[in-house]
Amino acid sequence: MLDAESLRARCAKELESSPRGYFGGLPWLRDAFETVPREHFAPDRLWWPRPGEDGLYALIDRNETPKRWLKAVYLLRTPLITQIDDGAVSPDAPANGAFTSSISCITVVLEMLRHLAPDPGDKVLEIGTGTGYNAALLAHRAGPGTVTTVEIDPQIAAQAKDRLDALGIRARVITADGEQGCPEGAPFDRIVSTASARHIPPAWLRQLRPGGVLITPLDSPAGYDLTVRMTGTGNGAAVGYPVATVEFMRMRGQRSPRPHAELGWPDEIDMQRWRDYEVRADQHGQRIVHRAPVTAPTAPTG
Ligand SMILES: C[S@@+](CC[C@H](N)C(=O)[O-])C[C@H]1O[C@@H](n2cnc3c(N)ncnc32)[C@H](O)[C@@H]1O
Repeated sequence: MLDAESLRARCAKELESSPRGYFGGLPWLRDAFETVPREHFAPDRLWWPRPGEDGLYALIDRNETPKRWLKAVYLLRTPLITQIDDGAVSPDAPANGAFTSSISCITVVLEMLRHLAPDPGDKVLEIGTGTGYNAALLAHRAGPGTVTTVEIDPQIAAQAKDRLDALGIRARVITADGEQGCPEGAPFDRIVSTASARHIPPAWLRQLRPGGVLITPLDSPAGYDLTVRMTGTGNGAAVGYPVATVEFMRMRGQRSPRPHAELGWPDEIDMQRWRDYEVRADQHGQRIVHRAPVTAPTAPTG
């Protein structure tokens, strides 16, 4: 069995050679992944995200099955569940219920960071601190004191803060409803949400500097989320497009379903062509439109 460092190196090799190009040719992203110890951020007790034959999510306990636990932490495509039913279920046995916090799977984390593309010194806002792992990766790139991360659950926020502090990572952890962003830290060069939105909160758009980048999972009529990459255009507005399909936990305040027509989606959608949609959002709401087909310029006649 490999140790954590060797597992990280092995994952990095696999990610680098994947046709999906998870590091996107960005050396800093590989460096961040190889440097930040994911196992430091994963709680000792985690639930496996698929139910067993008994209908329950199995518990993986670091102290009881350390090798299994470490292997799970370094699976590339498996999120591990760290909270069920907003903490009503304690992590001491197999359980079922709604997933409310996790350490997101490695490929999804990297894909979002690749599209976010923070630069050193950028002011970054993360919504959904969870374990603190993504905040640590962000801080590795953007630098000490640049990252603010907001978590709605006080216990989860406190644990993430302790983990970041223990590694000497200077990131600000705030316990609050991330739908409000962090007005006192604005404007931000980069905003990333690791909880999914049905509608993009206006506060994020106000707090994104013009030219800044916002990445968020956005609910779609297809029943899964689209990761959208928005660019701030000023005056609390942004425009962008989907870059991936994904499934994320919903932001607490946006759990109740709403008709997609109310959320700016067109009546007729073709989710086979999700890449062709454009997302526009401002202080009045969002609108998702199919980008006009590109028409070839007509050749001059005569
Ligand atoms: C998928 S987890 C985040 C994973 C995390 N980024 C990591 O690196 O481990 C989503 C988190 O978003 C949090 N969350 C949900 N709604 C929120 C809100 N309105 N504001 C802030 N955090 C929220 C949840 O409590 C949960 O911890």
